[in-house]
Amino acid sequence: MNFKRPRGTSDILPADQPYWSQVYTTARKVAKRFGYNRIDTPTFEDTNLFQRGVGDETDIVQKEMYSFEDHGGDSITLRPEGTASVCRAYVENGLQNLPQPVRLYYAMPMFRYERPQAGRVRQFHQFGCEAIGDASPEVDAEMLELCWRFLQELGISDVTLLVNNLGDRDGRAEYIAELEKYFKSAGDRLPKVDRDRLERAPLRVLDSKAPETQELAENAPKSLDFISGEAKEHWDAVIEHLENLKSANPSFNYKIDHRLVRGLDYYNRTVFEFEPANAGSQGTLIAGGRYDPLIGLLGGPETPAIGFAAGLERLILQLKEQEIAVEGSDGPDVVVVALGNAGKAAASLATALRGQDVSTILAPKRSMKAQMRYANNASAKNVVILGDREVEQGVASLKPLAGSVEQSEVSLDAKAIAEQVRAPHH
Ligand code: HAM
Repeated sequence: MNFKRPRGTSDILPADQPYWSQVYTTARKVAKRFGYNRIDTPTFEDTNLFQRGVGDETDIVQKEMYSFEDHGGDSITLRPEGTASVCRAYVENGLQNLPQPVRLYYAMPMFRYERPQAGRVRQFHQFGCEAIGDASPEVDAEMLELCWRFLQELGISDVTLLVNNLGDRDGRAEYIAELEKYFKSAGDRLPKVDRDRLERAPLRVLDSKAPETQELAENAPKSLDFISGEAKEHWDAVIEHLENLKSANPSFNYKIDHRLVRGLDYYNRTVFEFEPANAGSQGTLIAGGRYDPLIGLLGGPETPAIGFAAGLERLILQLKEQEIAVEGSDGPDVVVVALGNAGKAAASLATALRGQDVSTILAPKRSMKAQMRYANNASAKNVVILGDREVEQGVASLKPLAGSVEQSEVSLDAKAIAEQVRAPHH
């Protein structure tokens, strides 16, 4: 075979599908429980949307976007994230006319040209929620509660919620100036990559992977010490809500992390990440924050908003690592085994059973033994055996493959067989 899937993409085979359906089902259930409604946006958008929204200086825009010119000469980009798209859709479809905040969720593939490694791929999937049109701290708290519930319902434990506050954009200049002064004073102790980063995206120096920088970052100026009075009030209210959540639910916890900044430019105030205990640098399971400036940056009316996105590949890695059982993919209700000249009758029976909503596979034409083995390997719940005698007498043998019920003779009638297959004692 001359073809391979593109690097950083995967085929999700049937054996892995139970993990995916578990994650999707849980996401839908939890989103619904918090009053979020689903939105889907196009897989590709105008390149400018992400340049403006995510930010020109971010790694995503600088080196990770799948952008191309289409046949009409427009620059198109496969979406690297969902927030900018959802905000575009909110304004374009007049959702500001609905009661605010509008609560939206999505589960969509995203595309980033990154160096593939465990938990970091080029086509990945996010479940995300966005609450648009409300600036109050209650919505921040709701978002964090939603993430925590989602992890709980999945059964994933040992995850730490890290929170920080980036303040408002207008007030940030002073903080950034202090940060630059601090890191510049370190001179050569700051590695070259981070000296460059200090020029381009000074906040990002705080979450550098370099050990020397991490050490320096420990004592760096903290954004919380620079935020405005209003932002501080908002923050105090968020923390109060988190404390309440914590006292009502011992499994909920959080840590303030002064080094937490985000890789996308649109954030202000509350930012957060959920880290598993065994996290490498690629471990963040869920990340998000408030992004009040975004819709304005995109040319829409100033509209406060907050949201998060969870990386589904990473959640599934956790489910596997923590050996969390997921509901298996079921085999068919019935495999029909045909002997002698019963092939035609068996095919008709299979058709009729499917008509009765019984999932049915006709065993491949082989020996009795091979057909029975096939049914076992397919994890069938029952086999229905048809031979020449059965066809002549209008009966069939029904044999459950699990449980203690014995093989029995039933009438060759799809409805009757369907009833029996569905019977609770069966
Ligand atoms: P992000 O931090 O870029 O934020 O991505 C969120 C999550 O998506 C990450 O924590 C991770 O679990 C997953 N993820 C990101 N890149 C990859 C990758 N290459 N391979 C596998 N998983 C990945 C956002 O995308 C924001 N839009 C989140 C948000 C929503 N903020 C507000 N609303």
